[in-house]
Amino acid sequence: MRALTVHPGRQNSLEPRQLPDPSPADGELLVRGLTVGVCGTDREITGGTYGWAPPGRDRLVLGHESLGRVEQAPPGSGFSAGDLVAGVVRRPDPVPCGACARGEFDMCRNGRYTERGIKEIDGYGAQLWCVEPGYAVRLQPHLEDVGVLMEPASVVAKAWEQVERVGGRSWFEPRRVLVTGAGPIGLLAALLGTQQGLEVHVLDRVSSGPKPSLVRDLGATYHTDDVERVIDKVCPDVIIEATGASALVFASLTGTASYGVVCLTGVSPAGRRITVDAGSINREIVLQNDAVVGSVNANLTHFRQAAAALAKADRRWLERLITRRVPLEHAARAFETQPDDVKVVIDLQD
Ligand code: BGC
Repeated sequence: MRALTVHPGRQNSLEPRQLPDPSPADGELLVRGLTVGVCGTDREITGGTYGWAPPGRDRLVLGHESLGRVEQAPPGSGFSAGDLVAGVVRRPDPVPCGACARGEFDMCRNGRYTERGIKEIDGYGAQLWCVEPGYAVRLQPHLEDVGVLMEPASVVAKAWEQVERVGGRSWFEPRRVLVTGAGPIGLLAALLGTQQGLEVHVLDRVSSGPKPSLVRDLGATYHTDDVERVIDKVCPDVIIEATGASALVFASLTGTASYGVVCLTGVSPAGRRITVDAGSINREIVLQNDAVVGSVNANLTHFRQAAAALAKADRRWLERLITRRVPLEHAARAFETQPDDVKVVIDLQD
């Protein structure tokens, strides 16, 4: 089988290679890989700044945004041949820490978790892959063309859960949400916001391309103004920050109405410096009982929430999020950013 491999730590080492077909360990599913999505983390890995190969090896099979079709499922696994599935990314640390011991491996405390396609275990960017049934989530059959959005949707489902839990420390009935960034995470966050009946606002830099209409077709409002102006106008109860851009992150911290919740989901490179009014930021967060929470990754519950959210979304809207499909043999093209890209995916089957 062919697989998309990379040498973590080495720039431009991305290469589709022929690898032996995997054989499922006892109880595992054998899955035909259909599609993998490309995200910022994959770009960091191919850029040589993130990622770890499995111990004792140089190369890692890339890909954590997965979609595949079950080829073989052991009896009693709960899956059957033909099922459409996505694989969970993270595996608990071996100790395990208290969170991992409770299935909350997305909240691992000791950092010794592993992640498929990112940290020490091969990913899903392969024509065949195996997965433990407990780390596979089924998707409805009509989602074949868009099911690769499952992993980013799981990250967003977790972010929303965090907002609800943090808000739940007192009376909390948010009405307006501002999402900063109309990339795949921002747009999926907007989708889940509208599914909850919230008034959704999305801020992005671009005024052309697919993003404005994707936002409007959700019934949400698209903004390209200066972040401060948008915050003044919208006065959001919740901000989901999905750019990782320092100016937006810091504007968000003080950008909510009283008792606001800001959820940071964007991963920025270290070393970015800006000047901020630390006094005002602190003062406002304290005087308004605001909360800021960071959120990454997802556990099984969030994958199931994502499957439910995708199932009830408009499939044609989801299709429009996938703006480019690249065949495995030309995978490098998926990493060249083009102006109208939202989600770029790699087709694994020839
Ligand atoms: C993935 C997460 C992962 C994180 C850090 C993200 O792109 O979606 O699953 O935890 O990168 O490795």
